[in-house]
Amino acid sequence: MRMVDLITKKRDGKTLTKEEITWLIGQYVAGEVPDYQMSAFLMATYFQGMTDEEQSQLAFAMLDSGDRLDLSSIPGIKVDKHSTGGVGDKISIPLTPLVAALGVSVPMISGRGLGHTGGTLDKLESIPGFKVDLTETQFIDQVQDVGAAIVSASGDLAPADRRIYALRDVTGTVESIPLIASSIMSKKIASGTNALVFDVKVGEGAFMKTRAQAEKLAKALVAIAKAAGVASVALLTAMDQPLGVTIGNSLEIAESVAILRNQGPADVRQLTIALAAQMLVLAGKTDSLEVATNLAEDALRDGRALRKFKQLITAQGGDASIVDQPQTLPQAKLKVPVKATTSGYLTSIDAEALGTAVMQLGGGRAKQDDVLDLAVGLVLHKKVGTPVHEGDTLAMVHADSEPQEALLEAVRQAFVIGEAAPEKTPLILQVVRPEA
Ligand code: URA
Repeated sequence: MRMVDLITKKRDGKTLTKEEITWLIGQYVAGEVPDYQMSAFLMATYFQGMTDEEQSQLAFAMLDSGDRLDLSSIPGIKVDKHSTGGVGDKISIPLTPLVAALGVSVPMISGRGLGHTGGTLDKLESIPGFKVDLTETQFIDQVQDVGAAIVSASGDLAPADRRIYALRDVTGTVESIPLIASSIMSKKIASGTNALVFDVKVGEGAFMKTRAQAEKLAKALVAIAKAAGVASVALLTAMDQPLGVTIGNSLEIAESVAILRNQGPADVRQLTIALAAQMLVLAGKTDSLEVATNLAEDALRDGRALRKFKQLITAQGGDASIVDQPQTLPQAKLKVPVKATTSGYLTSIDAEALGTAVMQLGGGRAKQDDVLDLAVGLVLHKKVGTPVHEGDTLAMVHADSEPQEALLEAVRQAFVIGEAAPEKTPLILQVVRPEA
């Protein structure tokens, strides 16, 4: 085979065979296909798309480039959740202990934040002593003992994806649904889970800006999961304002603890319970979403989920006393209010602008190797739909030094105030299941 023939085949909108896709990924990883040819192939894919079969084969070829975790020693169905990333999305943190408290194993492999979206691992590292780098044996042992672990990827899961993603990042080919879906799924299948719930974010603060794009991605993800023998379901959820009221690492841990105490913002609670219910059904706890929802609510109400979180923190070397004393989490030196300059109703909040502001405060990464300030962030005092009076505090900026006026202004501008209350829109927009 010749790479140039595969590039022209894709450029002309034809369908590649399994053998061709396997060959091109294998040759690329072996250093036989140069970056410029792979870049041309990625651009051709960006414009021509892929069939379900092609994108599954691409995921499998990238999966085969590296290790695969064997979780078969953990009894029962193992369930994970994957979010396509949003601002203030701390759901994995309350969700994992909640589902584990109900007897379902959650081996969660998470990532770090980049750009305006935060990462679960960074958030957890604001708990003093918490370790996310476990060996494979420690990871498996902990899931067996505690029922859950949240770790960074150990071993070499889908190295082809890592190299291709780096190329996509600099060739304008990140925003391609088959490339995104195969990239996510190569790593998720490698992580050895049997079942997956996807949270596909839709809106200005998300990768997928429109509902149609998000639905397409969700369908691609569940189709690849099905081809890999992994049970799955995807929820499309709104990201047209930040999730919850905190953005920033230790602030989001405190909010997660509030959820586990059966308190906290309504949207975070609703989504945590909805995703937990889907995970419980996939794990075979019950076939009724209503029963699963009640189970999740009970475990939040009676403290089982909170106790499981303490257990998880302790098992990963962290100081579980932060659960009872969240004020011992890293705290910013300054709290600066951002106030409304007009009155009306809050009609929208630019989640991406707020995520970027937190990154500029030091709470997120502009580059992969940036070191984070875990204490800084934003606390929202208003959410979409609430009335606002001139002079009201819209958000509190938590900073370690006096924030620049431009940053405070960007935060203020992110809160859009109109004359009329906006129409209420649902948080959970759609459920996408694999085709039968
Ligand atoms: N996340 C991934 O893992 N891959 C993509 O391509 C996009 C988001």
